[in-house]
Amino acid sequence: MKAYRHLAKVTLTVNGEERRVAVRPADTLLRVLREKMGLTGAKPGCENGDCGSCTVLFEETPVKSCLMLAVEADGRAVTTVEGLKDTAIQKAFLEEGGFQCGYCTSGFLVNAYALIEKHPEAEGDRDREWLESNLCRCTGYEGISRSIDKAWAIK
Ligand code: FES
Ligand code: FES
Repeated sequence: MKAYRHLAKVTLTVNGEERRVAVRPADTLLRVLREKMGLTGAKPGCENGDCGSCTVLFEETPVKSCLMLAVEADGRAVTTVEGLKDTAIQKAFLEEGGFQCGYCTSGFLVNAYALIEKHPEAEGDRDREWLESNLCRCTGYEGISRSIDKAWAIK
């Protein structure tokens, strides 16, 4: 077993629960959530900042967790898709069929939740512009769009 001499201990509040974990300085937030905390909702896609499947909320802001180091999140709050149980956006995606294979879905859910719940002041072609950072490989954008419209209506 490889020994790492330079582990850092970080404390994160994840979905409202305080979690402490030892990480390597180069560990991304995405890897720590999935591999050390068992939260596999955020998905590794490109791991290059392009697809948005790894999106989580960092405090009030959606971030691509493949681009953030876990040590950068020390002492802060993170919300993953597992923390969105029973929200309007989750309900709307289910009712409107906002997914096909589902790989992109957690990223869309988190990003749309941020728009609807945290930044309702956004105006204009808000859904399309806000969600530019998320890609659906199945090209299921119509269902996603319907779901977000519904979430706005029922929230
Ligand atoms: S996996 Fe993070 S943006 Fe694609
Ligand atoms: S539903 Fe398959 S990638 Fe979006």
